[in-house]
Parts: sequence; C-alpha cells; structure tokens
Amino acid sequence: MSIPDEVKRRRTFAIISHPDAGKTTLTEKLLLFAGAIQIAGSVKARKASRHAASDWMEIEKQRGISVASSVMQMEYRDCVINLLDTPGHQDFSEDTYRVLTAVDAALMVIDAANGVEPQTIRLLQVCRARNTPIITFVNKLDREVREPLDLVSEIEDHLGMEVIPFSWPVGMGRSFGGVFDIRRDQMRVFRAGEARHSNENDELIPGLENPEIAKRFGSAFTKAHEEIELIKEASPEFDHAAFLAGKQTPMFFGSAINNFGVQEVLDALVDLAPSPGPRTALQREVQPDEPKFSGVVFKVQANMDPAHRDRVAFVRVSSGRFERGMRLKVARTGKEIRPNNVVSFLSQRRELLDEAYAGDIIGIPNHGVLQLGDVLTEGESLQFTGLPFFAPELFQAVEVKDPLRTKQLRIGLTQLGEEGAIQVFRPQAAGGALLLGAVGQLQFEVVAHRLKTEYGVEARLMPSRYTMARWFTAEDPKAMRKFMDSNAANIAHDVVDAPAFLASSPAQLRVAQELYPGITFHAMREHG
Ligand code: G4P
Repeated sequence: MSIPDEVKRRRTFAIISHPDAGKTTLTEKLLLFAGAIQIAGSVKARKASRHAASDWMEIEKQRGISVASSVMQMEYRDCVINLLDTPGHQDFSEDTYRVLTAVDAALMVIDAANGVEPQTIRLLQVCRARNTPIITFVNKLDREVREPLDLVSEIEDHLGMEVIPFSWPVGMGRSFGGVFDIRRDQMRVFRAGEARHSNENDELIPGLENPEIAKRFGSAFTKAHEEIELIKEASPEFDHAAFLAGKQTPMFFGSAINNFGVQEVLDALVDLAPSPGPRTALQREVQPDEPKFSGVVFKVQANMDPAHRDRVAFVRVSSGRFERGMRLKVARTGKEIRPNNVVSFLSQRRELLDEAYAGDIIGIPNHGVLQLGDVLTEGESLQFTGLPFFAPELFQAVEVKDPLRTKQLRIGLTQLGEEGAIQVFRPQAAGGALLLGAVGQLQFEVVAHRLKTEYGVEARLMPSRYTMARWFTAEDPKAMRKFMDSNAANIAHDVVDAPAFLASSPAQLRVAQELYPGITFHAMREHG
C-alpha cells in the first residue's frame, strides 16, 4: 500500500475521562469489538495491578507491561486505529497532557451519573487549546443516572462546543430499553451481557413514530420521543467541518460494561475522526504522506531497569514510512541512531510491527540519546512546534541531605527536567532552594526515587507556599526588567532559563496582572 493510502486509514486518538467513568472498560471493549483481544479482562487486569501499587518501586516493576499497553493499535474495518491511554488517578502527570499533543482526536467518556468531572475538564482544556475533535460517549445508562438533557447542556457549558446527539437513551437503569439512533431513525434494543463482540445480532426497530416501540417501551419511550423532538428542533445539524475544527462533538449513549454502544463509537472513529494531518515545524509544514520519515518524541518513560538508565522514547510518526533498522538523525544533536529493537504495540497483524506511518506510535529504547521534544528525521533538520509544558499546580522545595552531593542533585534535576519528568525552577533570589513543579503528586515520588537510584542523591522534599506558576513575557524589555526587579522573591527560572512568576494564590497572580499590564502571563510554554 502506498504511503498516502496508509496515512488515510490511520486514526489516532486519546481516550480521556475522570477516574471511574469507565475508560478502562470502554478501552477493553473497543479492543474486543475490533478483534484485537479475544477475552475481556486483559486490560482490566492491568489496571487492577496498577491500583494495588502502593509505591513507585511497584509501579516501576510494572512499567514493562504499561509501556506496551499505554498505546494500543488495532485494525477495524479498513482502518488502523491507535488508541493512547491517558492515565488518571495518582498516575496523572505532565505526560498525560503531552499525550494529547500526539493524537488527532479524543474520545471523552462521561459517567452519566456524575456528568462532567474535574479531571475531564483539565484534559478538555488541552484539547480545546489545540482544537482537537472530540467524540463524546456517555456511559453507564444501565444505572439510574442524570437526565440526558441536563448532561447535554452541562457538556456544552464545559466544552464551549455544540453537542450533537447521534443517539438518545430510551429509559435508564432498570427501565433502560436501548438507544434510539437519531440519524438512522431506528432503535437499538438493549441487551445486557459481556459475550457479544459485535452488534450484528442486535434487535433493531425502525421509526420514531413506530407504534411497536411506543407500546413496548411505554413511558420511557414517550419521554425519549419528546426529548428527541426537542433536540431535533434545538440543536444544529451535524457539520463534519465544525467537528474537525473542534466546534461540535457528536454524542453517543451506552453501557460499556454491557458491550452496548461500543461498536457505534468504533464506527464513529472510522467514519468521523480525521486521519493524520500536516504538522508544523519551524522550518516548514510537514505533510503526513511525504516519502521521508519524521517523528517527534512526545513522551519518555523509564524502563524496567533503572540501573542501566534505559528509557523508552515514544515517537509519534509525523511523515513517511518507518522501517525497523533504518538510520535516523536526532535533529537536536545531529547524532545518528539505528533503532532495531523497537517496542511494538498490541496489534493483529505482524507487518504492522515492522513499519509505521504518520499517526502511528513507536517506542524506541535508548540510554538518554532521545529527549522529550526531539525530532527524528532521515537527515533534514526539523524542529516541530507545539510540544507544551504546562504550568505546574503542585510545588515542593528540594534540598540535598548531603551537601557534598549538591552537584549531583543539579545534574540529576537538569536531566530529569529535560526529560519532562518534573519541572525544575531555580529561584532568582540568591540562596533559595530549587523548586520542583508538577501537575500530579506521583511525579515528586518518582523524581525522589530516581534521584536516589540513578544519581545517588538523597533528596529532601519540603512543602512550598507556591500553588501556581506563570511564564511571562513582555514586548518592552524595560517593563520586563522592572517587573523582575520588583518581584524578585517570586521569580524563578526553568530548565531552559525561561522566567516564571510563582504565586501562592490566584489573587496574587491577579494583582500582578493588574499592576503590570505590560507583562503577558502564560499557563503553557512550548518546547524549543
Ligand atoms: P476508569 O478506567 O475510567 O477508571 O473506569 P473503569 O473502566 O475501571 O470503570 C469504573 C467502574 O465502573 C468499574 O466498576 C466498572 O465495572 C464500572 N463500569 C464501567 N462501565 C459501566 C457501565 O456501563 N455500567 C455500569 N453499571 N458500570 C460500569 P468497579 O466496581 O470499580 O470495578 P469492577 O470491580 O467492576 O472491575
């Protein structure tokens, strides 16, 4: 198959949700329906073992499994689907955000009983900033849940995009009768059960005005009927271009645990989600179907054996064809690598493991040659824009227990900072302890553990009064100078020396914004 044909059949998406909405269950069912796994339970088992992990050592032991399963590849219909997991719970970290830069669409799972929850909002903000198209799956209709109309308006409020229901639930909980497919004008009757791997044998009843449906589902259907009429009047037509621009989200209802509504989501990914598009580099725009390979490292993960400083760099292919053993240049250093031992991800067919195209994710084990944001090419010097660093939300001061190891602490933190494991801030004021910034608590534990095992440094982490950081810029250098001098106690420099303002409350940031109108504050900094 030619490169353009391979690109066209790729769909790369992240699955996002608040913990417990049913992300793991849905992931597993998507794999099941695509035929990529045979039995339910494999993905779930991994999650269970991760839950049990009480400390970083345990988590690290499991990295071997999670490296391979945080990216899942499957074939469905004539498409190759790459599904990227965004960890929740304690695993939440900056990686989670960066995963969203490597996808072309997102699947948002909402627990119908809880509606939009905090972690979903955080992830959505990143999708919104990048105009990532989002498909919405409302889960757990087999339970007593919120009114579907309320969910629609809540999602619209939070997303700032129009929700276009493709299906509508008939009843819920005990009275859950199925979903009405608004566009095909037919009802799909709910059947509980784990055994189905396809919706082929589902019972379908045509026609919203069909008396048979009304009779069989009684008041649940009368209500659904009214709501569907309302939606048809109130919501705009689905516009594919508006979806691709992140302005509309198609919405589906179902029950992942019962394998109900899963195939509709898979079909929506194939039919609606975009294939990989062009990526912007500083030098030029890179087309996905160009003959030459290029790719970006969007995530670096410590591997099983920390003693060997082994890492897996996750590379999103941007263009061309990747083949095992090909020579690649690291644009930042000019170094050449020949990745032979590429980590392959779950898939049905062998040939997928040996080559990759735009949208695919490959894992390259290395010993630190590859850093976050690195670009790999067949020789061209390219630097992609858009790999973001997000303003940390949690801070700790760090000191070394043995002052003689101060230098090792700095080296370790610089390297871990470059890798994106944590953000390191050096206070402008003399004598201040280094500050670590993270978006997830686990990042601190990981860094303390890695400083010890990889750099021989016992670090002491201490609470910090800061709760927010904003990078800042100013057009007028004098305004910049004045701001930095007057706020020296709150200013620190990150790993690439970009200055940031550290605040202990949102109010403090607001005051600074009011006092210094010439300064622009940024919650995100792009790599490079
Ligand atoms: P997560 O990855 O988003 O954190 O969620 P996960 O899939 O683990 O699901 C969270 C809980 O919700 C699980 O129950 C799961 O079985 C349940 N669940 C998922 N989909 C549905 C659904 O469609 N209907 C209902 N009623 N429940 C659903 P648990 O008790 O926490 O775990 P388990 O003991 O069932 O594994």
